[in-house]
Amino acid sequence: MNWGMKNRLSRIIKLRSGRCVMLAVDHGYFQGPTTGLSNLGETVEPLLPYADALMITRGAVRNWIKPDAQIPIILRVSGGQSVLKELSNEIITTNIEDAIRINASAITCSVYIGGEYERETIGNLSKLVDEGEKYGIPVLAVTAVGKEMERDARYLGLASRICVEIGAHMVKTYYTRDFRKVVEACGNVPVVIAGGKKLPEKEALEMTTNAVSDGATGVDMGRNIFQSDNPVGMIQAVRAIVHEGKSVDEAYEIYEQG
Ligand code: 5RP
Repeated sequence: MNWGMKNRLSRIIKLRSGRCVMLAVDHGYFQGPTTGLSNLGETVEPLLPYADALMITRGAVRNWIKPDAQIPIILRVSGGQSVLKELSNEIITTNIEDAIRINASAITCSVYIGGEYERETIGNLSKLVDEGEKYGIPVLAVTAVGKEMERDARYLGLASRICVEIGAHMVKTYYTRDFRKVVEACGNVPVVIAGGKKLPEKEALEMTTNAVSDGATGVDMGRNIFQSDNPVGMIQAVRAIVHEGKSVDEAYEIYEQG
């Protein structure tokens, strides 16, 4: 791995704990103004001090994030579909020069294994890895799940391993039973979990605990943070689990007090 790639990765995955808390706010790229992100800037600003990186599109970053923000950007560079259509029909929407202009610490796209456009989305990842390797920018592959896909360890392990084989530098997937097998399938490539649909806070904290104890490097969480009734408390609680190994009960207290 070249110096630039290692340097960018170290901005996201903290050396001290070897873990990371990414805040995902890229939902609008296919969901429009998702609950909690209509005024993205207002939602995100108080959360930034507690996030290690922000997953976001170029339009959102330019509209709602101040250029002096010190947060590493994981730039979502895929899109082209909406919730109204076939989800796997993605293209690359942002070229590498624009990612560099934004000073992205990583770039990201989704891969729809089993989806109608599986091959094309693997092609998107492959193109990003080629460009990322060229400029020292790591690529986060998101194992997106089509409407009919079962989110079990067999399927998520298959999808995650394919992303690793294509050359992804980090993989984002969902937590599931036997999650250790998914992590194992990724070898040395760091795996983070998405939060998925909003859960009661305690359940989201349990999922975070289980994921890190099964080998996840951390989370790339969105709705379970910004749709919480206490988003700042929730991200602090998630952080306490990921970076400090706090228990679910301790973290829940942090959520309530935060
Ligand atoms: C979709 C994405 C996201 O927008 C992200 O995963 C959502 O995070 P969360 O599920 O925690 O709200 O990458 O493919």
